[in-house]
Amino acid sequence: MKPFDIPPEPRVTEMAWPTRIVFGAGALQRLPAQVARLRMKRPLVVTDAGVVKAGLVSRVLETMKTAGVTCAVFDRVEPNPTEADVFAGLEAYRQQGCDGIIALGGGSALDAGKLVQLLTTHEPPLSRYDDATGGDQFIREDVPPLIAIPTTAGTGSEVGRSGVVTLKDTGRKTVIFSPHLLPRAAVVDPELTLGLPPAITAATGMDALTHCVEAYVAQGFHPLADAVAVDGMTRVGRSLVTAVREGEDLAARTDMMVAAMEGAMAFQKGLGACHALAHALTPISGVPHGLANAICLPVVMEFNRAVCTARLARVAVALGDTTQAREEVLAGNAVERVRQLNAAVGLPSRLRDAGVREADLPLIATKAFQDASHQGNPRKVTEADLLALAREAY
Ligand SMILES: NC(=O)c1ccc[n+]([C@@H]2O[C@H](COP(=O)([O-])OP(=O)(O)OC[C@H]3O[C@@H](n4cnc5c(N)ncnc54)[C@H](O)[C@@H]3O)[C@@H](O)[C@H]2O)c1
Ligand SMILES: [Fe+2]
Repeated sequence: MKPFDIPPEPRVTEMAWPTRIVFGAGALQRLPAQVARLRMKRPLVVTDAGVVKAGLVSRVLETMKTAGVTCAVFDRVEPNPTEADVFAGLEAYRQQGCDGIIALGGGSALDAGKLVQLLTTHEPPLSRYDDATGGDQFIREDVPPLIAIPTTAGTGSEVGRSGVVTLKDTGRKTVIFSPHLLPRAAVVDPELTLGLPPAITAATGMDALTHCVEAYVAQGFHPLADAVAVDGMTRVGRSLVTAVREGEDLAARTDMMVAAMEGAMAFQKGLGACHALAHALTPISGVPHGLANAICLPVVMEFNRAVCTARLARVAVALGDTTQAREEVLAGNAVERVRQLNAAVGLPSRLRDAGVREADLPLIATKAFQDASHQGNPRKVTEADLLALAREAY
């Protein structure tokens, strides 16, 4: 890398870095204080069946009850939420007379919570707010308060401005993005992930890594995001395998929780072709978001290698490479390290082994090209490139 980064033309850049975060083992005990600070009297807990089964909803309800607040619950968010989930959540919010939201779960529950929050004061349809078509301009400040409590370490949605939802009309995963969707508080307690099963830990952890890597090599000038991304990669590199193999290891779980937040903070700079492919793969082929990223990331890094060699070399070092080899060699090592990490945490390396049908690859490329994420990719991609990448990952 050149010794100093100078912003590209135009030379003036705007950056922001907000978020109130209550972090650490036992942070859940501070939830009532945040609910009180935000003056919520009747919060709606937005969550899903898996989080209920893991016993986490009852822990939250118990914590709030002790503080004298009775929450309403909407627990029917599906993995990869749809528009219908958001409307059902909205109905619960209105019926129960709620005045704020506690979004509890992985990215699916957190995002659904944010979109329920949006529709309490904004007219449907959700497609109006699609980031890809400039929908952020219609999102106003007047949304009720939302507290996010993550139970996976992956999306970082608890400190992010986006909600991802599959829309009915297009069947496409759509990113809705606005600073007003940034949670008012994030209660981030790694203890809530101690029981997360290995396969979900692995896939969600690779989502966090993908956020860090894609943001770090993305086009644009955001040195704050870059620094945070490197720290996130370092944490994933040293702790993901332990978090998967020894789920009760609090230090590894804590590291992964930080990495997930850092990934989301970093990707305000932008993402890349890997997320574009992942956003297409989930609704078409049912591949979980993190797994889709895990499989596509090395292929996309290889595609980008020639245009961001120095940055990928830094990725290799963050992931533990101590060879001090030339940049070109290190950049190749970075790709190899990601492949090795996938194997070490037991994830398949090919889309065909994740239930994707070969006949669907052209449609996946078409939908991926419609996704705004690839606009941040350091090397410009066409639909044909995306198809070639999907075939390579197949
Ligand atoms: N908003 C963003 O910035 C952003 C970023 C990346 C991805 N996403 C979106 O987030 C969604 C994926 O989120 P995810 O990867 O966290 O998965 P998820 O929320 O779909 O959760 C996966 C499964 O794990 C279960 N689960 C969650 N926490 C658990 C726990 N502690 N113990 C046991 N089971 C638990 C859930 O019930 C679910 O069945 C996708 O829709 C993706 O597009 C959003
Ligand atoms: Fe992601």
